[in-house]
Amino acid sequence: MNDRRRGALVGFGGVAEHGHWPGWRDDSRFEVGAVVEPLPAGRERARAALGDAVRIYDDLVACLEAEALDFLDVATPPAHHLPAIEAAAEAGLHVLVEKPLALTPQEAERAETAAREAGTALLVVHNWHHAPVFRAAREALSSGAIGSVREVTFITERTEPASGGGASWRLEREVSGGGILVDHGWHQLYVARALLGGADPERVRATIETRRWHEASVEDTAHADVEYIGGAVARLRLTWAAEARRTLVKVRGEKGALRIEGQAVRVIPETGGAHDWRVDDDAPDDSYHATWFPRILDAFAEAMEDPKAAAGNLREARLGQAVIDAAYRSGAKGGAPVDV
Ligand SMILES: NC(=O)c1ccc[n+]([C@@H]2O[C@H](COP(=O)([O-])OP(=O)(O)OC[C@H]3O[C@@H](n4cnc5c(N)ncnc54)[C@H](O)[C@@H]3O)[C@@H](O)[C@H]2O)c1
Repeated sequence: MNDRRRGALVGFGGVAEHGHWPGWRDDSRFEVGAVVEPLPAGRERARAALGDAVRIYDDLVACLEAEALDFLDVATPPAHHLPAIEAAAEAGLHVLVEKPLALTPQEAERAETAAREAGTALLVVHNWHHAPVFRAAREALSSGAIGSVREVTFITERTEPASGGGASWRLEREVSGGGILVDHGWHQLYVARALLGGADPERVRATIETRRWHEASVEDTAHADVEYIGGAVARLRLTWAAEARRTLVKVRGEKGALRIEGQAVRVIPETGGAHDWRVDDDAPDDSYHATWFPRILDAFAEAMEDPKAAAGNLREARLGQAVIDAAYRSGAKGGAPVDV
């Protein structure tokens, strides 16, 4: 008997092909039976990668009418997340959705409500939690290496948006919901909150700028200082206008500091004697992180059994969506503090 959960990939672009598909292919709990992709070139890539047994549609409605499915994996640009989640809920299907959950806090709430009322799982791909460096850093922090964490500075510098400049949807506000603050800031927010031990955000001050991608309708540079209940702070620093690619996280605790750069985690206690952890991660330094995806599938399998298992993930998503919204409002007021 084939008791594998059967699903469709919705959107077959970069992350679906290089980040998700290898995980689905190698996991015997699941079977991908269909792909929905409006672009002919994307459909051809899906055919080449997934083979002839998979049915390929240019539209989700046609797919839902024709296929018997258990779940959708939504990897479209953000503006299409909510319509796909609502259609899935109506059809009684579970949903794994790429970040950001939706374009606005109101849309995110609609998405959650649709899944809750349908009794189906909704899980957002928070894959950076599973990056070996962040796992190692969380382990070091929970062992008390630098005491209670007070501040996280998270720097993400890129020379351009992930899919290049030019016609990328990442530069169109109506499709993306925002610029680098949405695209990378979303990851920074759930990672920073985890490093800070899970406190809730309270207030944001932000500056939002365009430095290089002037034809875009979104920012390419954002700075946001997020204050959490209890007094901890996250300083998010993001740009698509850097001279080189760099990701750096600095964590300050009551008894020392921790630094994450590349594949290295360094603990620097106040008492001296810095300690380096070399982290094994043979993942390519691309934007898709296929090696982090299998753990997302574990969480999705669990949420399919009990949708409440995704409550913590959805809370992270809701808080992230709220902080980003507050940051844009702060930016519009010249960096004035805005409550989350
Ligand atoms: N978690 C991560 O590390 C990570 C990395 C990259 C992208 N992402 C997210 O994944 C999503 C897709 O990003 P990408 O880089 O793969 O973009 P992409 O442009 O490469 O792919 C998106 C695909 O969706 C298709 N599409 C557009 N509208 C559709 C619709 N209504 N129905 C079905 N398909 C549709 C497009 O034709 C395209 O092939 C975004 O939400 C992005 O933020 C997450």
